[in-house]
Amino acid sequence: MAAPIAVAIDAPDIETAARWASAVAPHVSHVKVGLELYLRYGPEVVATLRGGTKVSVFLDLKLHDIPATVAGAARNVARLKPSILTVHAAGGRDMIAAAVDGAPGTTIAAVTVLTSLDDAALERIGVRGPSLDAARRLAVLAVEAGATALVCSPQEAASLRAEVGPDITLITPGVRPAGADHGDQARVATPEAALAAGADLLVIGRPITRAADPGAAAASMAAALRRAEAASA
Ligand code: C5P
Repeated sequence: MAAPIAVAIDAPDIETAARWASAVAPHVSHVKVGLELYLRYGPEVVATLRGGTKVSVFLDLKLHDIPATVAGAARNVARLKPSILTVHAAGGRDMIAAAVDGAPGTTIAAVTVLTSLDDAALERIGVRGPSLDAARRLAVLAVEAGATALVCSPQEAASLRAEVGPDITLITPGVRPAGADHGDQARVATPEAALAAGADLLVIGRPITRAADPGAAAASMAAALRRAEAASA
């Protein structure tokens, strides 16, 4: 079975993206497309990454606008049949509900607090901290609005799990195998620690895509996760 990993396909062009996706697809459950590729190539990139595989597409567009606009955007994106679409929880209850209504076959994942914002940056945009409290408030609001998944840091996963219960999918970026280069990720956890904290789907980009052999890197991370899951079962 494919491991619960969404490989962040943050590639410079569609050819590289297609190569990475086909290499990792046999080993992982999802490939994640973000704004950079989507704004350049549009729907074509979704079809290309899916290719002939069964891999699910996670469309990380982080929608944030008035409810009517987000409903329209979600309806248009739903035609591409992504399994997951992200919105900003800070868009509020009606906006999140509009995304859920607009894309009924897609899991709407609400981004709580961007991990790039620290407490001081949050205060400057008028959000009462600390960031974990803000993430908790936004998580509850998003779930009440109908989101069935949340994007959060691995460090927040256990708290959010306690807040929203077992049925909500927790998606965590900021995952680095022990000893790997952290890049620009500051608050990281190993894949095994993220799972233990309650994450359901791990977003992993550069440790896989920038490896000499992305397919082999995905396979070895998938095997490590299976071992961790078996050990905790
Ligand atoms: O290469 P790396 O593993 O750092 O990739 C992580 C992916 O997760 C990137 O696509 C990044 O945009 C995304 N992400 C993140 N932190 C968030 C939300 C999304 O790193 N809070």
